[in-house]
Amino acid sequence: MKKILTYGTFDLLHYGHIELLRRAREQGDCLIVALSTDEFNALKGKQAYHSYKVRKQMLEAISYVDRVIPEENWEQKPADVRLFEIDTVVMGDDWKDDAHFTSTLEGLCNLVFLPRTPGVSTSNIKGDLKLQEPVEGNTQLPGESA
Ligand code: CTP
Repeated sequence: MKKILTYGTFDLLHYGHIELLRRAREQGDCLIVALSTDEFNALKGKQAYHSYKVRKQMLEAISYVDRVIPEENWEQKPADVRLFEIDTVVMGDDWKDDAHFTSTLEGLCNLVFLPRTPGVSTSNIKGDLKLQEPVEGNTQLPGESA
């Protein structure tokens, strides 16, 4: 049983998140998501639109996700890897130079950084929805032609 672990907030769940989870799950047989709690997000200066409870419920409804655990601080990663006997930690490549992953997890497990899905992020969605003027909805998936 090859176990995969990934970390994130996964607020306003979007196609980039689904693609990250799909490709992470492909790396092994079981995918655990460590989901940032509301308190940890406050420490990072972030506030999610959906609460931890709602974000957890949404992630648990995704077939690629086997288990959701709380991410409560920056330091827990080595303990998570040992406790859940993780083979590989997978993240989007925006994290590839972050020491919380690189030096912290070196020698403990494999580390895989996947290319981010272009053109979509929680921040972009929040920005778009703040616009007063109606925006044209984009129902096309990236890479799909009209
Ligand atoms: N991710 C991805 N492609 C995207 C957006 C996110 O692969 N277009 C990945 C991130 O690299 C991370 C995981 O999804 O490994 C969770 O990212 P998260 O920070 O929760 O989502 P973002 O949309 O990046 O949120 P924000 O805009 O607040 O940074």
